[in-house]
This record gives sequence, C-alpha cells and structure tokens, in this order.
Amino acid sequence: MTCRLLITGGAGFIGSHTCLVLLAQGHELVIVDNFSNSSPLALQRVQSLAQRNTIQVVEGDVRDADLLDQTFRSCGELDGVIHFAGLKAVGESVANPLLYWDVNVNGSRVLAEVMQRHGCSTLVFSSTATVYGAPITFPLREDSLTDPIHPYAQTKRAVEQMLDALSRNAGWRIASLRYFNPVGAHPSGQIGEDPLGVPNNLFPFITQVAAGRRERLHIFGNDYATPDGTGIRDYLHVMDLAEAHSATLAHLLERPAPVQLTLNIGTGCGRSVLEVIHGFEQATGLSIPYEIVARRPGDVAKLEACPAKAEQLLGWSAQRSLEEMCTDGWAWQQANPMGYRNAP
Ligand code: WQD
Repeated sequence: MTCRLLITGGAGFIGSHTCLVLLAQGHELVIVDNFSNSSPLALQRVQSLAQRNTIQVVEGDVRDADLLDQTFRSCGELDGVIHFAGLKAVGESVANPLLYWDVNVNGSRVLAEVMQRHGCSTLVFSSTATVYGAPITFPLREDSLTDPIHPYAQTKRAVEQMLDALSRNAGWRIASLRYFNPVGAHPSGQIGEDPLGVPNNLFPFITQVAAGRRERLHIFGNDYATPDGTGIRDYLHVMDLAEAHSATLAHLLERPAPVQLTLNIGTGCGRSVLEVIHGFEQATGLSIPYEIVARRPGDVAKLEACPAKAEQLLGWSAQRSLEEMCTDGWAWQQANPMGYRNAP
C-alpha cells in the first residue's frame, strides 16, 4: 500500500534518511521544514537517490497553524504524519528552556490540533533515549523509569505524555520512538549529518578530526563506572533508524485505532567512546588523536537499549555494524567536507 505522508523536519539528519526509505517504497511525501538546522539540498539529493522527483516541499514552521492548515487543505487526504521537526541540543535547552518548550512542545501541540481538524490521527513522533535520565539498572525497557534531567529531554517526555492522552481519549494511532544514538550516513555519501558550528556529538566530531577540520577529539571523562572509564552509548546506523520509521508507520496503518506505542530504537549493544574511536580507526585506517578532558555536565555513564519490543512488534532490528556506521559516516564527510554548505 502506498500512502501520502506529511513529514515535518524531513530535511534534517534523520528526516532525510527516512524520506529516502519512504520515497523508495513508493510513498508520496509532503515535507514541512523551516530549514533552521537543515538544507533544501538534502531533499534534492534524496530525490535523486530515489530517482523520484515527487517530494512536495513547504518551507515553514510547525508552530504556524495557518501554514499547516493550508498544507493539509492543499495536499489532499494525508494517511499519516512523521514529526521530526524540533530542537535537539542539550546545552542550548539548558540555556534557553522557553525556546525548547515553544518549539518542541508547542510545535507538537499545534501540529496535533491541525491534524485533528483535518481528520488525520496517525502519528510517529521522534523521542529520545535521554528521557531515561541517568539510569543505573539495565536493560532499559520502555516501561523503565523515565527521569528526564534537562529541558530537551523534558520537552520530549512532555510530548510523549500529550500524545499518550490523545491515543487514549481521542482514538489516535501514535508511536513515540525513543532513539538512542543515530550515526553514520547513507552509503552513497550523498546525505548525512551536517551540524552547525562545532559538533556537540561524538561521531561528527570524530569525522571532522579525521578530515583535519579539528585537531583532536576531547573525550569527556574517563572516570565513569564503565569498563574503560569512558561513557557508553547505543550507537545505531541512521539507515536502520530510517527503516524503523517505515516499519512503525506500516504497523500503525495496519491496526484499528486506538494504538499507543512507545519503542526503544537501538541495537542493544552499547559501546564506549574509546571503542568507537578504535572502531573508526579500524574501519578507515586513519588515526584519531584524542585527549581526556573533564566530564561534560549532564552526561551519564551509560545508555543502552533493550530493543526487544521493536523486534517483537515491528519485526525490526538494527542490521548494520559499527564498521558500516564508520565507513558510511566517513564517506559522507569526505564527499562533503563542509556539509551541504558550498556544495554544488
Ligand atoms: C556520546 C558520548 C560523550 C562528544 C545527545 C543527546 C541525545 C541525542 C544525541 C539528539 C558521551 C562523549 C561526545 C565529544 C566525547 N540527541 N563525547 N567527546 O550525549 O549520548 O546524546 O546526542 O538529538 O538526546 O543527549 O551523544 O554524541 O554527544 O555523546 O567524549 O566531543 O561521547 O561524553 O559519552 P549523547 P553524544
């Protein structure tokens, strides 16, 4: 079955990879993106990779109800929405919590209101593993305690709760996907992660060091209670994450409302910062100079998914190795040294 879908934030890192998967499956896509942290070029490349020039792009903000109303009116009946649009920098959320509540929470509320007006009640929402806070017992299952410790995570948890209420009381079909740490890029090297300024996240920092854009990686602490002392995260290939979205959507569309799903999306295999560095060095033959510095405020020792529920319900599990995360991320960095900026 092919569908007509609205994708908010479809030009971003996870959005663009998901759009590629959905387009290749034959779905019709309408994308709303304000390009505040993304480039329209990503969508051009998605279309050329899928060999389908059919994406409809609407430039605008999800908090703009008029724009969303107009989009729903003009594009005919929509079967579902995937809501990626939002802000995601932990430090920025601490410095400017109101902005995060506005964009992430208010933006999601406006979107849900407009969907309700237009009779569309199937939604996949981008949530995050950081809603678990600083867990001490593993494996992390979807019913493990949530304890969001910064405004970014708090806003994501708040939207999860708003959506839970909608599925219970208004008969929606909703899935909140708790992403662990998506990395890598499409193997073509044509689309990938394009952080503005100095990367916050480990992977893009490593590829920029490998490319000579930065001198060395700072490892934020080696005194955590982990085997080598560095932080452990559950890194997954962004193409696996993209496929998790299409599997989730298919699952929702096959079922009668109401549906409320919360799913961890990770590999179940945590890796330390040092393991990632060594994995990258092995995959690429390059060396990554690093230095141990102080812990980064707000970091936790370990996050690692129990991905069993996604496997059981969707038949989805992460397929790609750490080596592929590294080689694909490196191919994107090499082909696009400045990301989408200055690209032809
Ligand atoms: C991973 C590990 C760092 C950079 C954050 C958000 C999360 C999600 C992804 C989404 C940690 C260490 C990092 C560096 C380092 N955001 N590190 N040197 O913190 O797990 O998650 O990004 O949109 O919601 O919280 O990911 O990649 O920043 O860090 O040593 O230069 O790498 O301490 O152990 P994190 P990360």
